[in-house]
Amino acid sequence: MQTIPSPELAVAIAAARAGGATVLRYFREGVQMRVKESYNLVSDADVDAEEAVVTAIKEHFPSHAFFGEETHKDELSSEDVWIIDPLDGTNNFAHGISQFSVSIAYAKDGEVKAGVVYNPVHDELYCAERGKGAFCNGKRAAVSKESSLNQALIGTGFYYDRGLMMERTLDSMRDLFHTDIHGIRRIGAASLDLCHVGMGHFGAYFEYKLAAWDFAAGALFVEEAGGRVTTARGDSLPLDTSSVLASNGALHQSVLAIVGKHHP
Ligand code: IPD
Ligand code: CA
Ligand code: CA
Repeated sequence: MQTIPSPELAVAIAAARAGGATVLRYFREGVQMRVKESYNLVSDADVDAEEAVVTAIKEHFPSHAFFGEETHKDELSSEDVWIIDPLDGTNNFAHGISQFSVSIAYAKDGEVKAGVVYNPVHDELYCAERGKGAFCNGKRAAVSKESSLNQALIGTGFYYDRGLMMERTLDSMRDLFHTDIHGIRRIGAASLDLCHVGMGHFGAYFEYKLAAWDFAAGALFVEEAGGRVTTARGDSLPLDTSSVLASNGALHQSVLAIVGKHHP
C-alpha cells in the first residue's frame, strides 16, 4: 500500500492530472501541430498543459523554480525546482496514438525527491518518492528479475536526430537482437519507457540523448522500483541532458557492454 504522499508528491499528482486534462481535451478535439525544429513537433496542447501544471504547483509553492520544456526556463540548479515535460510523446499525440504522458519531477538541491508520470488516456498514474517506493495507480511497482538478455524485452528511443545518434542507436539495436532478446520496443515517450522498466515490463531501456524533463521523474520511478539508472556509459546520471540506461539491475552490465560500446 502506498503511504501518505509528501506535500510535494501530492501537489505533483494534482498538477499532472490538471496537465493531463488539458492534453486529453486537445487529443479528443484535435489541435494544429507546428514544427519546432526538424521532426520535432509542438502544439497548443504542450504549451497550455505546461501552464496548467505550473499554475497548479505555484498555488502551493510560489517561490519554487520551474524548468519546463516549453516556456518556463528557470535554472535547473535552483534549490527547489520542478522539472516538467507537459506532453512527452508529442509524435504519438500528433498521430493519434495514446502513448503519451505528463511528466513532473521535484528536485531539491540537485536531487530528485518525487516524480509523477501520468498517461491521461489510460488514466495511469506512476509516482515515486525517494526512499518510499514506486507505485502505479496505488499499487507497488517492481522491476523484473531476469538476468539474461535472452529473457528480456528492451526499450529504446531516438532523439530528434537522423545522424550519428540514430546510426549508433541502430548499431546497438542490431547487437542487442544478436543476443536473442525477446524484442525491442520503441514506445515514443521516454517517461513511459522508464515506467515500463519500473513495472517489470522491460528488462532495460536506453536512449543516447534525453533532456531532464524526459527522464527526471521516470528515472526515480525505476530506482524506487528496485532498478538501476546510469548514463549509457555507466556513469551516475546527471540531472541535466544525458544519455540514459535504465534496467532491472541484473541486466545492467550486459546491456551496458553493448550500448556503451556504441555511445556517440
Ligand atoms: C521525446 C520522446 C521520445 C524520445 C525523444 C524525446 P517529446 O519527447 O520522449 O520517446 O525518444 O528523445 O525527445 O518531444 O515527445 O516530448
Ligand atoms: Ca519529452
Ligand atoms: Ca514534450
